[in-house]
Amino acid sequence: VSEPVLVTGVASGIGSATAISLAAAGVPVIGTDLRGDGPGDIDDVIACDLTDPQAIDGLIAALPETLGGVACVAGVPGTAPPETVVRVNLLAARRLGAGLIPRVVAGGAIVHVASVAQFRSPVPADEAKSLLALEDADVLGWLERRGLDGTQAYDFSKQALVALARLHAAAGLPSGVRVLSVSPGPVETPILDDFKTTMGADRMDAAARVVGRHGRTDDVAPVIAFLLSEQARWVNAIDVLVDGGLIGVR
Ligand code: NAI
Repeated sequence: VSEPVLVTGVASGIGSATAISLAAAGVPVIGTDLRGDGPGDIDDVIACDLTDPQAIDGLIAALPETLGGVACVAGVPGTAPPETVVRVNLLAARRLGAGLIPRVVAGGAIVHVASVAQFRSPVPADEAKSLLALEDADVLGWLERRGLDGTQAYDFSKQALVALARLHAAAGLPSGVRVLSVSPGPVETPILDDFKTTMGADRMDAAARVVGRHGRTDDVAPVIAFLLSEQARWVNAIDVLVDGGLIGVR
């Protein structure tokens, strides 16, 4: 593939590792992040605040006409205000996905990074799914009325993101664009400390005991890079757990 792949959240953790995995496979990478930097070998990084829909539209406008794919990795943990969590983890992913499906080449893919946190969401699956039909402002209005705290908003955002990927997969099918999600278990990145705060260090330790350790960014990034690649051409509209077996064995 000669077209570049966009990676969001490229300044840190899984996004940074994904950019490195793609670059190692010879895929040109355009990064974006709140912070306007990325790993050393990625020099094309566009600063963008994903809480701001206008900034997202500006990012979309600044990208090349065609892309080889998109890795939506940027995310904020439940220590952030619920509105910020939903804006970045869900609404930004939706806006980017909808804006970029028409710009991804046939055979390319969009991969959203969700989480095993999706399984803890307090929102019934049907309700989460129905929210995807609402405008941003109405989703945020629902969030406020529902009174979810940051952690619940995080879990909900990931649940809805998995549903969004399937919805967008249907939209991408006619033009040969696949849309998937990847759900990591706990991964050693700066966000992990926030998860220890919101979910309790005990639960995180218990999860690590089940599968032997926490995940590392290089456990997850190659899976994202594979799903974006031509070799994954018949894999579509699914959520791929990358959790060392945590959910399955439980
Ligand atoms: P990280 O904190 O290392 O990286 C997140 C990146 O997103 C940062 O570079 C940050 O600047 C960027 N970002 C945050 N707010 C932004 C905004 N408003 N606009 C633009 N960029 C923004 O975290 P990590 O672990 O690499 O997380 C990546 C994704 O993986 C997130 O979606 C997270 O929810 C998900 N995840 C992480 C797990 C973990 O245990 N680390 C487990 C499951 C999912």
